[in-house]
Amino acid sequence: MNPKNTLLITALATLFTINVKSAESVEKLEKYKKFLQEGTDQCIDLSHWAIPPKSRYETFKKAFKHFEKNNGKIVVELGATRSFVDGAYQGCLSTNPKYWEPNNPTVWDWGAGSFTRVAAECLCNLNPEFHSIDISHQAVNISRTMTKEFAHIMHFHRCSSTDFLSQWDSKRKIDLIYLDTGGMDEYTCKLQLQEAKIIVERDLLSHNGMILIDDVKNSTPRRLHGETSDLGKSKYSIPYLLAHGFKIVADEYQVILIKNK
Ligand SMILES: C[S@@+](CC[C@H](N)C(=O)[O-])C[C@H]1O[C@@H](n2cnc3c(N)ncnc32)[C@H](O)[C@@H]1O
Repeated sequence: MNPKNTLLITALATLFTINVKSAESVEKLEKYKKFLQEGTDQCIDLSHWAIPPKSRYETFKKAFKHFEKNNGKIVVELGATRSFVDGAYQGCLSTNPKYWEPNNPTVWDWGAGSFTRVAAECLCNLNPEFHSIDISHQAVNISRTMTKEFAHIMHFHRCSSTDFLSQWDSKRKIDLIYLDTGGMDEYTCKLQLQEAKIIVERDLLSHNGMILIDDVKNSTPRRLHGETSDLGKSKYSIPYLLAHGFKIVADEYQVILIKNK
């Protein structure tokens, strides 16, 4: 064969392999689409929105695609999955591994997002370092069990999110950070602001890094605490991040921010 043709075929084959590979994390996410959509629907007051915000599926997809495209290496999750099953099932919050059904996602805790398991499974082909942080021993044990198949990429830290961020080696930039500690209360609003401040002041995010924040448009703060902003537990952290060099690139149930360049 003409050497020029051989070269062309090799180049096309390489391009094809790269393209196929670049979709892998998103392809893996597809099987959880329905669960992520239904889980998000439980958390939104649909009557409040003229156009309902998109589900966690859309923002996970955007974040995973970006991570993969930019050859991301380090994922940090603040607040790990704390239940093998949704509250409707026996075994909610129990650490007994008999309640973990890896092949039956129908019973998983989709109301909380199940990021620990889903991100580990979708991103493991990229061989990242996945650091998941939780202040609760139980949550760490549960998440460790749920990600046993991906143990080679998982690093669990039983500590507060702010201690973790303060002690993280700032030379090792984070490519994707997921903010999901606490609940829907004022304490969590202030905690998330502290997390955002440490990320900014210590410059922990990589050049192309993303901050993905869960539950921004959750209906609970409005319903139970009379919250009037549409930022929920991020009512302090998002304005702070916007004032400190970040911009919003997805504004849905979850919010994604990247550095202004
Ligand atoms: C909503 S859950 C996280 C859900 C998980 N990211 C998922 O997608 O399934 C919140 C977690 O934050 C943890 N948490 C609360 N305060 C914390 C803190 N100061 N530092 C670290 N973890 C904290 C709780 O123990 C709980 O497990």
